[in-house]
Amino acid sequence: MNKLVYAENYDGMSALAADMMVRIVRDNPRAVVVIATGGSPRLAYRIFCSRAKSEGIDVSGVTFVKLDEWLGLEPTDEATCEFFIRRELLDPLGISEDKFIHFDSLAPDAEAECARFRAEFDALPAVDLVTLGIGKNGHLGLNEPSDHLFTRAHTVELEAKTRTHDMLTHTGVNVTRGITMGLAEIFRGKEIMLLATGGEKAHLKDYLTDGRITTEAPFTLLKLHPGCTCFVDRTAF
Ligand code: PGA
Repeated sequence: MNKLVYAENYDGMSALAADMMVRIVRDNPRAVVVIATGGSPRLAYRIFCSRAKSEGIDVSGVTFVKLDEWLGLEPTDEATCEFFIRRELLDPLGISEDKFIHFDSLAPDAEAECARFRAEFDALPAVDLVTLGIGKNGHLGLNEPSDHLFTRAHTVELEAKTRTHDMLTHTGVNVTRGITMGLAEIFRGKEIMLLATGGEKAHLKDYLTDGRITTEAPFTLLKLHPGCTCFVDRTAF
């Protein structure tokens, strides 16, 4: 990665990530921030919310954009990225609905939903920050390892490993498909924050430090983005 910043543990990594979010939102109270979900950014978001409150940071003009979503779940299902973002960010920060851009997990026509999202995303004047985690299989958003990747938002057949994601353990629905931003949308971020943490990912460690780029580990493509900072939890990588 262009910029690797090591932290002793998950708490340390999360504090650094929250610092970056605070800086970007302070510099631009109308910032557009793409939000990954899952265990990697959870604590960073909690620290960010608590600092926004205690430091009086005005977040009412910030736009939040959902990075990806599981298809076939009610949006109110606790397994959804939608539920996660509302619980961890929108509700505690009091963000209004018009400041949230999101995929519909139950869209009757998922391809049309991708087209609708692409148009809404393209209308944003700029994207200030994209937050990302790394999948156990090296995926980025739900861009799964493959011999090719997609530039724009698209639907995806999930790999077996992704279907066992922690977020899906408590839903009764068998989730096999997802919807995700593509690489071009992710690369629109002026800054990107990649959080390297979580179990069963140590096999991906060399990719962080060597020069390889491969669609078989999609997060490696971020080495091509000059504004990407990777915060690494030493206990995981
Ligand atoms: P995690 O998921 O943050 O819960 O480890 C990351 C991902 O699957 O992309």
